[in-house]
Amino acid sequence: MTAPAQVEQRVLQLRASIGLHVDAYHTHDAPLITDAEYDGLFRELQQLESDFPELSTEDSPTQRVGGAVLEGFEQAAHDQPMLSLKDAMIETEARSFVESVVNELGQDDDVELCAELKYDGMALSIRYIKGRLDRALTRGDGTTGENVTAQARTILNLPLTLPVPIDLEVRGEVVMLKRNFEIVNSRLRRLGQKTLANTRNGAAGSMRQLDPKVTATRRLSFFAYGAFELDGRPAFEASSQWDLIEGMRALGFSVAPETALVRGWNGVREFFESVGKGRVGLPMDIDGVVFKVNALDDQQRLGWNNRTPRFAIAYKYPAEEVESIIEAIVVQIGRTGAATPVAKIKPVRVGGVQVASASLHNQDNIDAKGICIGSTVIVRRAGDVVPEIVRTVLTPGDEALTCYVMPSVCSSCGTTLHRTPGTVELFCPGGIKCPAQKLAKLAHFSSRLGMNIDNLGEKTIQTLIEARLVNMPSDLYGLEEQSVRELPGFASVSAKNLIAGVSSSKAPELPRFIYSLGIEDVGEATSRSLAKHFGTWNSFRTASYEQLLATADVGDGTATNICQFFADPLLSAEADRLAEITQPQSYQQQNGIAMRGMTVVLTGVFPTLSRGQAKALIEQAGGKVSGSVSKKTSAIVAGDAAGSKLDTARELGIVIWDEAQLLAIAAN
Ligand code: IVH
Repeated sequence: MTAPAQVEQRVLQLRASIGLHVDAYHTHDAPLITDAEYDGLFRELQQLESDFPELSTEDSPTQRVGGAVLEGFEQAAHDQPMLSLKDAMIETEARSFVESVVNELGQDDDVELCAELKYDGMALSIRYIKGRLDRALTRGDGTTGENVTAQARTILNLPLTLPVPIDLEVRGEVVMLKRNFEIVNSRLRRLGQKTLANTRNGAAGSMRQLDPKVTATRRLSFFAYGAFELDGRPAFEASSQWDLIEGMRALGFSVAPETALVRGWNGVREFFESVGKGRVGLPMDIDGVVFKVNALDDQQRLGWNNRTPRFAIAYKYPAEEVESIIEAIVVQIGRTGAATPVAKIKPVRVGGVQVASASLHNQDNIDAKGICIGSTVIVRRAGDVVPEIVRTVLTPGDEALTCYVMPSVCSSCGTTLHRTPGTVELFCPGGIKCPAQKLAKLAHFSSRLGMNIDNLGEKTIQTLIEARLVNMPSDLYGLEEQSVRELPGFASVSAKNLIAGVSSSKAPELPRFIYSLGIEDVGEATSRSLAKHFGTWNSFRTASYEQLLATADVGDGTATNICQFFADPLLSAEADRLAEITQPQSYQQQNGIAMRGMTVVLTGVFPTLSRGQAKALIEQAGGKVSGSVSKKTSAIVAGDAAGSKLDTARELGIVIWDEAQLLAIAAN
């Protein structure tokens, strides 16, 4: 059927309109319509293109939903090396950059510089052949990068075709706008998946997804900062960096509107300060500003130093600091009894994430900084580092506040807190009798990295403890549906699900089992090393101090902690009981990793696999099969005549695979 003229018209209209909204959103940070309205336009276009395939075009926005899953990333050589910029961390370094440029060029002090934002994401080099996006590479080691073309095609504001059929290489940064970071994280949270630590990891992690369909859900943006011909000559016969920027803008690339021409040191300082002031309000995270000598022939004269250009500098901002107020201080009792004061602060966005609490470490730190409930404080966070309270800011009225003093008894069980000898740390000696420690131990046992027990969150553990049904991890395996059903907040289905979750955690992989015991200093990586080294639970359980020490990554402290753990009659008896009940697998017979941690639901009839085969495939790849769809479901595999589970999955925004996709993923 050929498309009626009005359909063709509507398709063109929709594409133009979507293009306009993408531009308003990504380039100007000024969305004109809501996300839902945008999705409506997008879906309408998708529908029309599927009804009238002859109307599909290569550059339609619908082509950005992601193609087939890759087996791995291919390496490819860059046409021109991708090098990096020299950093200036303090004013004198930035100033001496300007001075050296002026001296070497023998120019006036007011040398012209192109001032740009230093976008904090992941560098990308994109090649266009005859105006079509041909290849996108990550930086890699600068000479060779990874081919992420399929992923790059999902970036909404990256042109798939250029208005002119030219060959061109464009360099720029893939970023996740702050607004999108919040949206993506709330979806990941809803799906029970690991959230992104910050926008930089969000951008880099999303580009490194083998399944471009996943990248497509991450709402990435691209900002351009360089362009050249494939032989390395400047693009557009440009004579300045500014011309390059304008040329890229004209081709449809996004460039931050803050980009400007400045002159001399004064211009550099003013730009650095003014962008610094407005940084919090920018749509994307930046970690500095970049200055490039504007005239390209001057750039040539200045040349390169090793791997960095002498005509450019990245002037970095110090770790972001934001003011907040301490609203409360709570003392958290950890799994091992450590008592840590934690400040609950008025939520602020700092260093790329929303911060609502920060550890105060110990009483000495509180005293040294003069921290009180009600204090105005400076919160700092750089990169992936945990947020910290740097200092207090004396504010009128604060004189009346009194410095916080940690309680002398455990907030959970009332036992007198002890001081760890030789340190300023306090701990609760209550052990398993302390409800907070009991809860933390059980939560650790059932956590995602531990036994990964479905349907058992902290709230449920709390309920089970209060009902005296569970005291220690092994009690979980004795739970009966009948008694769980009678608990507050439970009904017959939820009770069944809990019992099923506990039961399917049996036969854990050995590293998980070791981790779940909560031995001090034995985290995920150490547990894996121990499992690899000893192979079976028994040989780990009976290892001597010397044998433990022979394990990679295990030092004196960790080996001693493991010995002390097994020397404790209560702890070792519980560990033996758990091993007896759950039968940890030996390391060799461990399952694959392609689907580790995933919970998958099957629905409908598959073209080649039986239900049993599909289940076995998922389990061999390290995943689990569940009978019902919930927000924790990682994916649903839908065959013919799929029923209401598929509708529920759609409502919850869960990834939907067909049999072919399942086969491809499980085979990885
Ligand atoms: S120019 C020769 N301009 O910062 C270096 N880089 O070390 C050419 N970056 O990872 C890079 N914003 O991806 C340039 N406006 C900008 C930039 C920028 C961010 C990143 C770049 C690289 C690092 C430079």
